[in-house]
Amino acid sequence: MAHSSTIGLRAAFAPQGTLPSASSAAALLEPDGAETLLRVEHLRKEYRTGAGTLVLFDDLNLTVHTGEMVAILGESGAGKSTLLHILAALDTPTSGHVYCASTCIGELSASQAALFRNREIGYVWQMHYLLPEFTALENAAMPLLARNEDRSHALAQAATWLGRVGLGHRLHHRAGELSGGEQQRVSLARALVTEPRLLLADEPTGNLDNRTAEAVFAQMEALHREHRLTSILVTHNVDFARRCGRSLRLHQGRLEECTGRLQAGPASNLHIGESN
Ligand SMILES: Nc1ncnc2c1ncn2[C@@H]1O[C@H](COP(=O)(O)OP(=O)(O)O)[C@@H](O)[C@H]1O
Ligand SMILES: [Mg+2]
Repeated sequence: MAHSSTIGLRAAFAPQGTLPSASSAAALLEPDGAETLLRVEHLRKEYRTGAGTLVLFDDLNLTVHTGEMVAILGESGAGKSTLLHILAALDTPTSGHVYCASTCIGELSASQAALFRNREIGYVWQMHYLLPEFTALENAAMPLLARNEDRSHALAQAATWLGRVGLGHRLHHRAGELSGGEQQRVSLARALVTEPRLLLADEPTGNLDNRTAEAVFAQMEALHREHRLTSILVTHNVDFARRCGRSLRLHQGRLEECTGRLQAGPASNLHIGESN
């Protein structure tokens, strides 16, 4: 969609201004000791279109604890990308609240939202949105360069993350010269180079063949574990969803826990089977 590409490029640059001081506070501690990193309350999103009002969510709620890896499944058009855009402060809900740690995202100004994204969110898109004329190293360093970090430090950090995603041998290749799987690894490195609290990935393996998709997902899984990330992954791949700690299905504007067995169905990408 055209709006996604605009958002994608906007996300790659732009952090100016200051965040409210509360945003650097620790995640909220619950009585059972679990830390809540993300809390979505009574989210409503509607689009006014020529054909009338499209209500995507009404009273959508979600709590994600620090360290969780959550899969979001759902049919095309269910609103998965819109939800991730709202979590990343790239789009605004019609009503309701999103809290990331102690930041109320809806209260951020545009420049604070850009800073919030740059500091707290790593975002991986289905379309990688790398800059094709820039090298893998420059692309991965982009979020640090955009906030005016020292160039040699930014490039060194980017090289470290490219090494972690298995691309230490491709630092100086232009993004446009890389394979689809390599491009997604660069965008994973770019998402993580700022060491964000929250990794949001929107069908990151959707454009890849099965073998490459498995390799990229396995890399995400490993980095999630090793760096104690909190990750939300939108996917149509039931095997990947099963490997996440929790799977949710976005259906008719609500997130439902997939407590049953996830199966690949013949006619659709997803079927939720009976519990066993
Ligand atoms: N800016 C917009 N204006 C109107 N409708 C939109 C807009 N953005 C998305 N939509 C509609 O909202 C629905 C959900 O879109 P999206 O979040 O991309 O779904 P998904 O990622 O689950 O496939 C789609 O029907 C889409 O056409
Ligand atoms: Mg989508």
